[in-house]
Amino acid sequence: MEKIKRLSEEINQLKEQKKAIILSHVYQRPEIQEIADFVGDSLELSRRAAETDAEVIVFCGVHFMAESAAILSPDKIVLLPEKNAGCPMADMVDAESLRARKNQMPGAVVVCYVNTSAEVKAESDIACTSANAVRVVESIPRDRPILFIPDKNLGVYAAKKAGRENLNVWQGFCNTHDKLTVTDVQKAREEHPRAVIMAHPECRPEVVAMAEVVASTSGMLKFAGESGDKEFIICTELGILHQFEKRCPGKKFYPASNKLVCPNMKATTLDKVHQALINMEPRVTVPEDIRVRALKSLERMLAVK
Ligand code: 13P
Ligand code: SF4
Repeated sequence: MEKIKRLSEEINQLKEQKKAIILSHVYQRPEIQEIADFVGDSLELSRRAAETDAEVIVFCGVHFMAESAAILSPDKIVLLPEKNAGCPMADMVDAESLRARKNQMPGAVVVCYVNTSAEVKAESDIACTSANAVRVVESIPRDRPILFIPDKNLGVYAAKKAGRENLNVWQGFCNTHDKLTVTDVQKAREEHPRAVIMAHPECRPEVVAMAEVVASTSGMLKFAGESGDKEFIICTELGILHQFEKRCPGKKFYPASNKLVCPNMKATTLDKVHQALINMEPRVTVPEDIRVRALKSLERMLAVK
């Protein structure tokens, strides 16, 4: 506890000295969320990264998030405190295999989940996050076929919600969310019969079908805050429980399963944030030719209301 307090104080001082802003995803460790200037979902974090006038962005999340910040803010230093914090789903598609698939689908619009590398974004037409995937799909003319990459679960969900039959999905998935089974959720429901089930669309379709609320992490936080309900079963990464408990005192939140842990999201520690601010490393940069093409996909996404 003493160590957390001391490190957090030192991080705050370094942050002032280096004119840095700390952004944290809601799946990060509680002590990381506590030192952040802003905690949010992928969409909110992209917006913050685009808007900030800080000179340094310390991104407490995974590699593709820091890369998106570097694409949106090329004049800023972007630090990813744990350089090996990646996203296995983002690694399920690369630029070369995407180009091969595009050749088989002439005229298709490529919608890439923000959980992709800069190279893949550069090969795509528009990005999306789980918070705006349905709106992004709806923004595409109905007669254009869509290739949705890489998350098959989010793609299937967005196609259903937007009523689009001409949407093809890549066969990627999040191996944290995809672990959650119908049996896990049934068990949680038996233990907490009055609780509202909230699921992230990265979960399998059969799990999503059991949920009363299907939403991105920010959507779940908003719903729980505004709802008259008092108990919730949470089908997403457990880091979000810290925000639920902070923002919704008096309400109860039960994880659908204790296996909902993303090891990459947990790789960032206070020690690593501290070291990153001292050394101004590890930095995430994107080659300019890729950046300008990837930026178009992100800007088109940010323009969708
Ligand atoms: P959101 O916060 O956008 O819902 O992201 C989910 C996720 O898995 C990020 O890696
Ligand atoms: Fe990737 Fe899933 Fe971890 Fe998000 S939770 S970073 S999608 S592996």
